[in-house]
Amino acid sequence: MTAPLLEVKNLSVVFDTEGGTVHAVNDVSYTIEAGETLGIVGESGSGKSVHVLAMLGLIPRPPGRIVSGSVLFEGRDLLKLSEAELRNIRGGRIGFVFQDPMTSLNPVLTVERQLIEPLTRHEGLSRRKARERAVELLDLVGIPSADRRIGQYPHQFSGGMRQRVMIAIGLACSPKLLIADEATTALDVTVQAQVLDLVRDLKKRFGTTVIWITHDMGVVAGLADNVQVMYGGRIMERGPVRSIFKQPHSAYTWGLLRSLPHGETRLTKRLYQIPGQPPDLTEPPVGDPFAPRNPFATPRCFTETPPLRQIEGMAPGHQVAAWYDLPALLAAEQGTER
Ligand SMILES: Nc1ncnc2c1ncn2[C@@H]1O[C@H](COP(=O)(O)OP(=O)(O)OP(=O)(O)O)[C@@H](O)[C@H]1O
Ligand SMILES: [Mg+2]
Repeated sequence: MTAPLLEVKNLSVVFDTEGGTVHAVNDVSYTIEAGETLGIVGESGSGKSVHVLAMLGLIPRPPGRIVSGSVLFEGRDLLKLSEAELRNIRGGRIGFVFQDPMTSLNPVLTVERQLIEPLTRHEGLSRRKARERAVELLDLVGIPSADRRIGQYPHQFSGGMRQRVMIAIGLACSPKLLIADEATTALDVTVQAQVLDLVRDLKKRFGTTVIWITHDMGVVAGLADNVQVMYGGRIMERGPVRSIFKQPHSAYTWGLLRSLPHGETRLTKRLYQIPGQPPDLTEPPVGDPFAPRNPFATPRCFTETPPLRQIEGMAPGHQVAAWYDLPALLAAEQGTER
């Protein structure tokens, strides 16, 4: 068996703030195989962004602190690399696209300058070759008249076009791994669909491995092979998209799926909101972090943190962190309704 492309082990990240220590990421472990697309979902504050920022060495320290873990990428622990080595990997072997292109793009530099920089730095291209490649990339992400527009500044592009520029930069050096954090959230639906088509096409053509972070379960369904659901800085459930959508085992995933406007809801057709509030991460709850909001919680959920594991009847690769058997409980509930 070949080693996974990325292996995150026991990653924990905290922020030391005046209000206390925020436990943002708690003992997160997972692997990604080359060519896989992993969708990461979860409510606001669940640790999605912080855990990838930590992997890339982009957590502000202080207040941030990586308390434990390792992140093996192509056999090297990213958490042990120097800033110079990390800079070499960022924008090179690992491309990333973050939510807000207005802050990620440099407003005083032309798009040309910002695209050429990684190409000369990581790919060793001459300026002329890099410019040619940059125009090709803008073309690829669907920016019309790329040869002319490349000389413009970020503010001269619309929001959707700026996001495409960000994606072009993320893809500039044909990364092995592309990490996108809410990359299409700010875009209107048509542009979002175009960008997702583009990513699907790149996966097909270059075999790019993708981590796609989003609030949108619908996007995950259309793009990812596997889904990872995060809550309170932990992975609650993980598995193949079809298996998770068909039979979620975590009550939290089940809640997220029920809140989908067009969700496959077996119990109700109405839009559903998960009641209650996300946990206060300065005082992480004992046990299963979702227990206080979980109608299916058992006493054990309040005292002991469940490990992420496969339980009987689950599809291969599907794992959950739960002490209760959700499919059995749902089946029983449906039985009594009849
Ligand atoms: N610089 C910081 N200082 C203090 N706390 C922080 C800092 N950055 C993030 N956090 C905290 O870490 C936790 C995880 O945040 P994170 O940004 O990873 O959430 P997220 O899942 O990406 O949410 P969203 O969906 O809103 O992007 C949150 O409780 C957040 O308040
Ligand atoms: Mg985020």
